[in-house]
Amino acid sequence: MTTTREVSVIGLGSMGAVLAHTLVRNGYRVTVWNRTRAKAEPLIKEGAAFTPDIVTAINASPVIIICVTDYQVTRNILEPENVASSLAGRTLVQLSTGTPKDARDAEAWIRGIGADYLDGAILATPSQMGMPDTPIFLSGSGTAYQKSEQILKVLGGNLMYMGEAVGSASAWDIAALSSLFGLMIGFFHGARVIEEEGLRVDALGSMIAGIAPVLGQMVKNTSDDIQKEDYSEPQSTLEICALSFELMIRQSREAGINAEIPEFALKLFSKALNAGYGNERLGALIKTLRAGS
Ligand SMILES: NC(=O)c1ccc[n+]([C@@H]2O[C@H](COP(=O)([O-])OP(=O)(O)OC[C@H]3O[C@@H](n4cnc5c(N)ncnc54)[C@H](OP(=O)(O)O)[C@@H]3O)[C@@H](O)[C@H]2O)c1
Repeated sequence: MTTTREVSVIGLGSMGAVLAHTLVRNGYRVTVWNRTRAKAEPLIKEGAAFTPDIVTAINASPVIIICVTDYQVTRNILEPENVASSLAGRTLVQLSTGTPKDARDAEAWIRGIGADYLDGAILATPSQMGMPDTPIFLSGSGTAYQKSEQILKVLGGNLMYMGEAVGSASAWDIAALSSLFGLMIGFFHGARVIEEEGLRVDALGSMIAGIAPVLGQMVKNTSDDIQKEDYSEPQSTLEICALSFELMIRQSREAGINAEIPEFALKLFSKALNAGYGNERLGALIKTLRAGS
């Protein structure tokens, strides 16, 4: 782990500004660049150096963090010949959100101009940055990780370096987002059930928060089954799980509420039942999502 105290932050949107602010607050010498200068004003007051010239911003530090809308914007900013050549010999950490392919393309391009590249994905909102448990997934060059680890730890204490395969951080991020929003979609249907019965939605939220470890264990058990490809001896069959959606749809009709969410889920389960997986464990559902199924 190296201990540079200079870092440049490119992109001062909702997330980039908080990254820069957190680094300034932790004693780093931060140089910032943003297309719209006005967003740098609060940071200048806090002690960051602003430059309207991107090359000067890059030359100011051995480690450059970029956090802009997407990878295409990164490319637009860094691609001009004079900008790209100023990156040579430095470490670029990309904290914009993208896909594994975006990360692989970015790595090939950045390596081609002689810089080291680390790809990251932040699984938190701006107000959650800088805390001991803030999760950031990282992947790519091990030397780039070593050079930037201490800086990144300030931004999110829960750094998860997923190895040299540069697409890993984005893949973990997308998988985590899918798991999170899958739960949230189910919650929205549950909230309509609760509202329609005259009950409190905030009490449902508290109840789900309380049983979160149990839900997490169920996901863990299913993930183990999928990894082992073992769906035998179910305690609760896929067919029994599918009945839950039939129950939800019937209740929706009785209560006159929207049934799109359980109807969508039942379609997936019906595909698994039609494929003959009804007497297997829930994890067998993944077989219907694989290519050629
Ligand atoms: N906000 C979150 O909760 C959150 C959480 C996790 C990850 N992220 C990721 O962090 C990244 C930034 O998100 P954000 O919330 O900070 O977005 P944002 O507030 O919309 O800021 C976008 C940034 O990109 C810059 N930008 C956009 N188009 C540009 C262009 N053509 N040329 C130069 N600069 C351009 C903007 O510059 P201007 O100021 O000049 O417009 C601004 O600095 C995204 O990839 C996002 O997915 C965000």
